[in-house]
Amino acid sequence: MEKLLLIIDDSKEIIDVVQGIIGGLFDRVESAESVEAAQNALEANVFSYIVLDINLKDGRNGAEVLRFLVENPENKNNESPVVILSGIINAQFIEKFSSKFAGIVTKPFDHDDFIQMTKDILDAKVSANYKELPTITCELPFPLPQLEQKVSKMLDVVKKNTKLKELFHNLNIDRNKDNYVMSHVGMLINISTAISIKMEWNTDKTLEKFIYAAYLHDMAIAERPDLAKIKATALELELMQDKMSPADHRLVLEHALIAANTIDGIPEIPADVGMMVRQHHELPKENGFPHRLSFAKITPLATVFIVAHDLTHYILENPKWTVKDYLAKVKTKFKGPHFAKVLSALSEMN
Ligand SMILES: [Fe+2]
Ligand SMILES: [Fe+2]
Repeated sequence: MEKLLLIIDDSKEIIDVVQGIIGGLFDRVESAESVEAAQNALEANVFSYIVLDINLKDGRNGAEVLRFLVENPENKNNESPVVILSGIINAQFIEKFSSKFAGIVTKPFDHDDFIQMTKDILDAKVSANYKELPTITCELPFPLPQLEQKVSKMLDVVKKNTKLKELFHNLNIDRNKDNYVMSHVGMLINISTAISIKMEWNTDKTLEKFIYAAYLHDMAIAERPDLAKIKATALELELMQDKMSPADHRLVLEHALIAANTIDGIPEIPADVGMMVRQHHELPKENGFPHRLSFAKITPLATVFIVAHDLTHYILENPKWTVKDYLAKVKTKFKGPHFAKVLSALSEMN
């Protein structure tokens, strides 16, 4: 098959330089200086290698080109390796995104290194992985050192497992403007791990369980941020029945079970995650759903997850939230020994 290179850069000079360095490894080279030209090229040909700059013409951004690839699953270049080439990349960017691209090259760069990297990628047939996993975009209420690294380490494991990769990839379909599902996942990871660290349950295994539970708990309604936003007691949900279609009502009622059953069927996911997910809408006074469990039946890990989930909703609804206001509001809702411990840990995080 013909080996085709696409260089996307707003500078003609850089295009020439890149072509001069690695062009010889390809049968044909194309270039694009704008987002539109890049999209046209990507629609017309299958490229074996794409070099993409971050800054493009007219103040536009390489991210738009990536978005075009990600949002058009039918496009011809979904498997093409993308290498980011930019002068504005810093160490943080590399740390955050290195796993998402076939390669990242900062300007100025060593020509021989660039040639070698290109050869390695072409030989190994490294496929694009920028589209695989949903990323978290939100402000985190409790900044935790190393959390991001731990999440990306776990996602690296996910990537290596076909079944898990598929499951996580399916979460990426929230097209809602505010990206509700993913911001609520990010916050949930942050809050549940922050509480568990405060409670001195901070083993990597426990954190991993919370990360899995946060990502997967609403997977049955990942396409429906309107349903994922519903926070209700069993009774409130019953009363909503008139305002919803029977199918939606059933989906809300059963989404925790659907997700938990899927999770239980995947041995790579740590035990306990299924239980946390199954119980994430239960409440201690036997007024949660779907099972109206009593507090004694709710596991300690699920207790942390339930409070973290509740606080996540609270923060998203109340931008001016404080831990103090939240605790005052939920004092009577969350009773029982496990819940008291979680609330007390939270009160120390003010
Ligand atoms: Fe949720
Ligand atoms: Fe939920």
